[in-house]
Amino acid sequence: MEKLLVLVLISTCNALNQNLSGKMLTFPQETDSANVRLKTPREKFSAVTICLRFFTDLGRNHVLFSAATPGNAAFIIKKTAASEIQQVSKNSTAIFEGQAFTLNTWHSLCSTWDSKTGLGQLWMDGKPSARKFLHYGAIRTPRILLGQEQDDFNEQEDQQQAFNQQKSFVGMVNDVHMWDSVLRPCQIQNYTNQMNFAPGNVLSWGALHFQMTGRVVLEDMQSDCKQ
Ligand SMILES: *[C@@H]1O[C@H](CO)[C@@H](O)[C@H](O)[C@H]1NC(C)=O
Ligand SMILES: *[C@@H]1O[C@H](CO)[C@@H](O)[C@H](O)[C@H]1NC(C)=O
Ligand SMILES: *[C@@H]1O[C@H](CO)[C@@H](O)[C@H](O)[C@H]1NC(C)=O
Repeated sequence: MEKLLVLVLISTCNALNQNLSGKMLTFPQETDSANVRLKTPREKFSAVTICLRFFTDLGRNHVLFSAATPGNAAFIIKKTAASEIQQVSKNSTAIFEGQAFTLNTWHSLCSTWDSKTGLGQLWMDGKPSARKFLHYGAIRTPRILLGQEQDDFNEQEDQQQAFNQQKSFVGMVNDVHMWDSVLRPCQIQNYTNQMNFAPGNVLSWGALHFQMTGRVVLEDMQSDCKQ
């Protein structure tokens, strides 16, 4: 009984629940370990929208968001070539071309998928991609990470796992939201333009439950100098 209580206390202390409005997560170094785990009691989805803003100077391939299920990618968004971003889910890959973005600038990226049509789509800085087939059928996302790609993971080795440094994210991320539906174009435009939007009903930056591992810094957004 006491042991159980201690365990519960430890896991509660490690996981933070905060309003991150005005903050960003900085991944300042290429590592095979630094990550931020995003927590939600929800696990099964028949549609998703994930939106986030990122800033990087990485020329190489890197992950932007990764949700995994044991032995499989659940929903991964990654840059895989100079002007290509992929959605990977359950052994299926949708490749979106013409997604080059300027380095050293904040970008807004939204990614949607719906099991009814099986179609995925990207919105880079509010600009829609072609709609591509990914797969039908629900996904399960027991582990959601920023900073590291997880093509698969083993729940037993959850804590010790090393990731692939060559796919890690270096830079800053903020305003991460996840919904269990496909947002309408107007809602995505509002997110992109930082106007009114209903926060994510699965993950919300204004009430984020998360856990930082390794060298990740939670800090204030840098704003222009004000008089
Ligand atoms: C994905 O591919 C792996 C290896 O080919 C296979 O073992 C697994 O069953 C596949 N999973 C799904 C969901 O298709
Ligand atoms: C988008 O933002 C505008 C201005 O804040 C607001 O009037 C409108 O209702 C928003 N649209 C959606 C779909 O949330
Ligand atoms: C988070 O903080 C911002 C700024 O203080 C505030 O506008 C917003 O309502 C807060 N969000 C939640 C969910 O409390």
